[in-house]
Amino acid sequence: MARRKKVYEGKAKILYEGPEPGTLVQYFKDDATAFNAEKRDVIDGKGVLNNRLSEFFMTGLNAIGVPTHFIRRINMREQLIRSVEIIPLEVVVRNFAAGSISKRLGIDEGTPLPRPIVEFYYKDDDLGDPLVTEEHVIAFGWASQQDMDDMVALALRVNDFISGVMMGVGIRLIDFKIEIGRIWDNDFQRLIVADEISPDSCRLWDIKTGERLDKDVFRRDLGNLADAYTEVARRLGVLPMNAAPITKPTLIN
Ligand code: TMP
Repeated sequence: MARRKKVYEGKAKILYEGPEPGTLVQYFKDDATAFNAEKRDVIDGKGVLNNRLSEFFMTGLNAIGVPTHFIRRINMREQLIRSVEIIPLEVVVRNFAAGSISKRLGIDEGTPLPRPIVEFYYKDDDLGDPLVTEEHVIAFGWASQQDMDDMVALALRVNDFISGVMMGVGIRLIDFKIEIGRIWDNDFQRLIVADEISPDSCRLWDIKTGERLDKDVFRRDLGNLADAYTEVARRLGVLPMNAAPITKPTLIN
């Protein structure tokens, strides 16, 4: 059997050529990394959970008219996506202070921000993904002024949607990161949400207890990462409430 072609391998996912032009297969690995891969581990079942959770969020976004790269889930670890030209920026939206903004500006974690704050980080592992301003983005040609306006609008719609869905299951969306890609309809470009939306790329705190249900569990050694992600998936109805731990992946295709 012919082996499919690997297009790209990142820290948590692999992209393969898709079955039709303009498509890719996105494979979710179990690898977890933090601090630009200085810390790494393999967490049984994480890829399965993130595949399902990203499907859940992207499907919901598509349904409310926020365009994403997601086409359909293929199996436990893979989904079919549209191929995009990734804009080399990590777009972060923060509702409450945590992580790098708390460190940089000396704001206690959990402090509500006066309004959602959108930040851009230049995607470059060698530089450690530095925070950049709109001036940098436009001057260096990573995106145009129109792209920046569209990216902020997209990011805020994603924020409204995910905050609302999470609030409904007793979880506070502290912050998240998305990546955005360009697709071309003839001569016209459109921006769509790409990459993944999962507890790897969000901060999720239980509203009542403040318990961390995201990758900070791994970054800060707070407990079992797969258990935290399984809790998120169960609350969202992505896994049945009584599902066995995800480390037995045959249970959830
Ligand atoms: P930060 O507080 O470390 O800047 O992270 C902000 C949000 O972005 C948080 O939800 C985690 C997410 N994030 C990623 O998805 N990838 C990354 O490489 C980093 C640094 C953060």
